[in-house]
Amino acid sequence: MPRITYVNGAYVPHHEAAVHVEDRGHQFADAVYEVVAVAGGRLCHLDQHLDRLERSLGALSMAAPVSRRVLPVILARVVKLNRVTHGLVYVQISRGVAPRNHFFPADTAPSLVVSAWPVKGPSAEQVEKGVAVATRPDQRWKRPDIKAVGLLPNLLARQWAKEAGAYEAWLVNDGGFVTEGSATNAFIIAKDGALLTHPDDSSILGGVTRSNVLRLARHLGLEVVERAFTVAEALSAREAFLTGTTLMVLPVTRVDGQTVGEGRPGPVTLKLRALYQELRRK
Ligand SMILES: Cc1ncc(COP(=O)(O)O)c(C=O)c1O
Repeated sequence: MPRITYVNGAYVPHHEAAVHVEDRGHQFADAVYEVVAVAGGRLCHLDQHLDRLERSLGALSMAAPVSRRVLPVILARVVKLNRVTHGLVYVQISRGVAPRNHFFPADTAPSLVVSAWPVKGPSAEQVEKGVAVATRPDQRWKRPDIKAVGLLPNLLARQWAKEAGAYEAWLVNDGGFVTEGSATNAFIIAKDGALLTHPDDSSILGGVTRSNVLRLARHLGLEVVERAFTVAEALSAREAFLTGTTLMVLPVTRVDGQTVGEGRPGPVTLKLRALYQELRRK
């Protein structure tokens, strides 16, 4: 079965799917994106992703290529054509094709690309043992709340973390506080049992998984405090974990080579992971 990708109105074989060399996403990273999970063939938390996509477009004064009613139809068709039952759909919107110039082009239609592929998520071993994170300076621009494709600082941090033997990089701001991961949100269960994560402000990407996990945590009766934590607080925490569309809730058991809590996934993290899996199944 050939892989099919949507590009500006056409469903084409993936190896032929292309945008123009003067697409502004290609030349300026003048583009936004979303990654939506597919579970049992269904698009998960689609409304929340579409809300965030609209916010990203609005923040950059970028037009939507299709209406909010039509976009889910395209996503569902790409999922179906590729027979993805468990995986991801990737949506990218750029400001379109225009001669290279910093000013926004007038009368240029935005480009829309949608692709989908199967993904397994973290391994059983990663869930059972937890993963390691390594801290890096947060070198991103001051609007990572916009889900824009200019991810170079994220890539550099994550590659560095991999080379240091870690699964993810935790980005640390100039004040010594963890903002988030390179592609995930960061959480700890502090010494007093409170669940801490950076507030959803302009210095992090407000994860869809993050907001759903916070809702589940409040339902569970946990004390949820949206405030930034330091690396030292993470090292003395009871538990730590990451959230993201692909991995849902993933335990963290080492930070910069040092053990967190008991050195194994904690009970609160595992409970939130189980609740999140249940939510996804629904
Ligand atoms: C920087 C960053 N933070 C957090 C997330 C997690 O967001 P979500 O839960 O919506 O996947 C992502 C996902 O791509 C990300 O790139």
